[in-house]
Amino acid sequence: MNNIAVFASGNGSNFQAMIDRVQAGNLAANIALLVCDRPGAYCVERAKAAGVPDFAFNAKDYPSKAAFEQEICQQLLKEQVDWIVLAGYMRLIGPALLQEFAGRIINIHPSLLPQFPGKDAIGQALAAKVKWTGVTIHFVDEGMDTGPIIVQERVRIEEGETRESLQRKIQAIEHRLYPEILQMLLTRGEVKHDKKTSTY
Ligand code: GRF
Repeated sequence: MNNIAVFASGNGSNFQAMIDRVQAGNLAANIALLVCDRPGAYCVERAKAAGVPDFAFNAKDYPSKAAFEQEICQQLLKEQVDWIVLAGYMRLIGPALLQEFAGRIINIHPSLLPQFPGKDAIGQALAAKVKWTGVTIHFVDEGMDTGPIIVQERVRIEEGETRESLQRKIQAIEHRLYPEILQMLLTRGEVKHDKKTSTY
């Protein structure tokens, strides 16, 4: 079974959706680690409640991004992680992790990329007064929400739509779609990670 690490910075509702799918037997993965860059975030509580090991760190405790990413990398290798699943992780992934997990890092973003990358994609869509927005799941590269797209699902923005109502609709899709796509990727049998060749 594939080991996955979920990276999150806040609430962790997508992380919870994955935990629930694994427990229900609909996602054939072992959630081996939660990586969180905000030690007080609610996702860390969710990890503890579910018995998922967590690595919660404060970037300020490290001299550089390369330094904390090196430590993350060591934790991932220790837990024999195959895939990195970003779910509300508010940082760009740096070269060390990108190299070590090439082709095995995915992200979910609450817009139809390439529209509205970066922060507050839901607010950006409302401000732009577009009729449609949605959810994108994509492979991660060095850019901000720029990697190859795996799947997108559209959401209509209705008259009088509020941020809360739009967020509810988007998250309902995310919580279904992310575990589904993950299950699809994990069962393609393309994970050929040889831990002996790891650079750390
Ligand atoms: C999600 O909307 C996801 O698309 C975005 O960040 C949000 C995280 O929400 N990248 P949660 O922490 O999973 O509740």
